Amino acid sequence: MKIIRAKDYNDMSRKAANIISAQVILKPDSVLGLATGSSPIGIYEQLIKWYNKGDVDFGACTTFNLDEYRGLTADHDQSYHYFMHKNFFDAINVPAERINLPDGAQLDAERECARYDAAIRAAGGIDLQLLGMGLNGHIGFNEPDEFFSKGTHCVDLTESTIEANKRFFASADDVPRQAYTMGVQTIMLARRIVIVVSGENKADIVRQAFFGPVTPRVPATILQLHTDVSVVADEAALSKC
Ligand code: GLP
Repeated sequence: MKIIRAKDYNDMSRKAANIISAQVILKPDSVLGLATGSSPIGIYEQLIKWYNKGDVDFGACTTFNLDEYRGLTADHDQSYHYFMHKNFFDAINVPAERINLPDGAQLDAERECARYDAAIRAAGGIDLQLLGMGLNGHIGFNEPDEFFSKGTHCVDLTESTIEANKRFFASADDVPRQAYTMGVQTIMLARRIVIVVSGENKADIVRQAFFGPVTPRVPATILQLHTDVSVVADEAALSKC
């Protein structure tokens, strides 16, 4: 596990964007695993700038997002489909048919999760997975649990996650209670992982996740066992390490 120290959020975003653009330059047909949340927004902004300058081309890439709220349609302004189009896809050239997210409108969870896993397998697996981390150490929507999850599955969101995500909705009652998420095993099968963490409010969980014992109670701890993980974190997030 490589810890890459960044000064602040912008520096973290630039450093992580550098790793992703190098991946795409070296392997133009990369399969990218992408994430939502406030942590990766700066990365997407940086990659768009480089794309506009002609420094990086996503025309041969395939993307798979980590997760999606169950019950939200793609055009709902809080869906992760909407987020990804607004913050990244609409500004770059990944072909629409190679953009993949779980379909929140498909309420048959078993069917949707099986479809998503099959699509990842058919694409040859994920070359580089970008991750953020929740305040309780969740990755994707893999919440603290007794076990590490395997493939894509449907989860009940914890109160802490609903609380953290309610800022994006009119009220906490509007936050969906369930989501489809890649499993921990799906994430661990990615050939490379880049996880970005920023801010003082994540300092405690950063310490537990990357320096504490590996436990499904803090899902991100499993990343310590992956052979190619870069943690890109700013000084505030690393302040308790
Ligand atoms: C959500 C997403 C995660 C993300 C986490 C942290 O729950 N499902 O993929 O990592 O929030 O979000 P933020 O980056 O806004 O702190």
